[in-house]
Amino acid sequence: MKQQMSQFETIIYEKKDGIGFVTLNRPQFLNAYNIQMRDELFAVLGAIKDDDDVRVVIFRAAGDKAFCAGADLTEFLTAPLPVFARQIRFDRDVWGLFLSLPQPLIAALHGYVLGSGIEIALCCDIRLASEDVRFGLPEVNLGIIPAAGGIQTLPRTIGRAETLEMFLTGKWLTAPEAYRHKLVNRIVARADLWPAAEQLAGKILCYNNFAVTNAKQAIVRGSDMSLAEGLALESRLSRLVIMKQTQT
Ligand code: COA
Repeated sequence: MKQQMSQFETIIYEKKDGIGFVTLNRPQFLNAYNIQMRDELFAVLGAIKDDDDVRVVIFRAAGDKAFCAGADLTEFLTAPLPVFARQIRFDRDVWGLFLSLPQPLIAALHGYVLGSGIEIALCCDIRLASEDVRFGLPEVNLGIIPAAGGIQTLPRTIGRAETLEMFLTGKWLTAPEAYRHKLVNRIVARADLWPAAEQLAGKILCYNNFAVTNAKQAIVRGSDMSLAEGLALESRLSRLVIMKQTQT
């Protein structure tokens, strides 16, 4: 049985058999990312980071139409003072926290995945999507640029030219296009999306957790390093894993 962890309003957080389930839960607003969601996500991610019982996390969203339609436009540019907004951002660095989680993160994406939606998806390690998925970066249409890492993480995933075309022309990617550009690992039928994510999580859970988290670290951190630095990191982490195995 799933254990519901806390009563948040914009997200649901549950735990079951080693899997953490984070469900964006503002379906009436297409799960638009608002200040409350940012604060609740920050609290949940912090709890996940420190919870040894959570070994894999699935991010998904409620409602039929969207994983997340981007930043909440009703709050758009409403921060009282830029300095205040910047301070909050430093105090609650959701995106930095996301990228620092040691557990493998799986995104189960459906419908609209726009702006912050893409940014959340790109903080995850494995992305599954249903056939109805649509990826877009509407920021340029609003006269702003993404500020939660999206235009750094997206080119590293789908390449610079495709990111620029998406951002500069408002082009949206369909499911087959997203798969072709390696933005998603796999496309499944809508009804199969959540079960497929759980099945994947179940496979990861079969493996030794220390090896899993260190492999994630070697791959994720190593991708941002030179080959020589990556090899040194890999060698250090693989020695750690072997030492741990021989101790148990
Ligand atoms: N912020 C706040 N509310 C949003 C939202 C957003 N980013 N996106 C959708 N909503 C709300 C709509 O206002 C609507 O609320 P209402 O029923 O009270 O009027 C509800 O969600 C459903 O959206 P709707 O526009 O009716 O759905 P649609 O299927 O016709 O269109 C989209 C879907 C995604 C194309 C359209 O909602 C859209 O363009 N959203 C804004 C995307 C955007 O620019 N995001 C910001 C990125 S930085």
